[in-house]
Amino acid sequence: MAIEQLLILIKPDGIKKSLTGNILTKLSEAKMIIIGAKVVKVSRELAEKHYFHLKDKPFFAELAEYIQGKIYGAPWDRVLALVYQGEDAIARMRKIAGATNPEEADPVSIRGAYGRITTKGIYENVVHCSSDPAEAEREIKLWFKPEEIVNKIYPTKKVKQENEETVWE
Ligand code: TYD
Repeated sequence: MAIEQLLILIKPDGIKKSLTGNILTKLSEAKMIIIGAKVVKVSRELAEKHYFHLKDKPFFAELAEYIQGKIYGAPWDRVLALVYQGEDAIARMRKIAGATNPEEADPVSIRGAYGRITTKGIYENVVHCSSDPAEAEREIKLWFKPEEIVNKIYPTKKVKQENEETVWE
């Protein structure tokens, strides 16, 4: 079996419901290692790029607002982004996360236990979990810089930056 990595997001509903600890505990049952982690205030651009494959769906605009936490506002308008690595990681973590629709998800999975469907029909399913290795690579590269991942997982290159950058004083 292959060593894989994947992106997990604890979405704003998971943050607001104070489920971060419960979710991390459930995910830890798979005995994967965390190779990247950070809190992100999701911009509209990032939200739309992340859900690019659903751009033609009628619920796309609301989905982009959901991942940005707009419906909740501060201080819940953020996600915890994690990169996990391990053997057969994607299938194993998706099993723990449960089916996309929280109503259909196994009741002991994260989405089955904690998710809901809003009156507008959006699946507030608490976590995002990459679906396959190609999607995982696209998503990890979208959410993380190479130096934010402690293991070298994809090839990198050096580029000269001329942009202004904020650094610690
Ligand atoms: P998708 O990428 O199909 O599923 P997954 O997150 O399991 O990989 O969908 C992305 C998100 O869009 C999903 O987590 C919840 C939301 N969604 C809805 O709100 N309604 C829907 O009918 C679908 C398919 C997804």
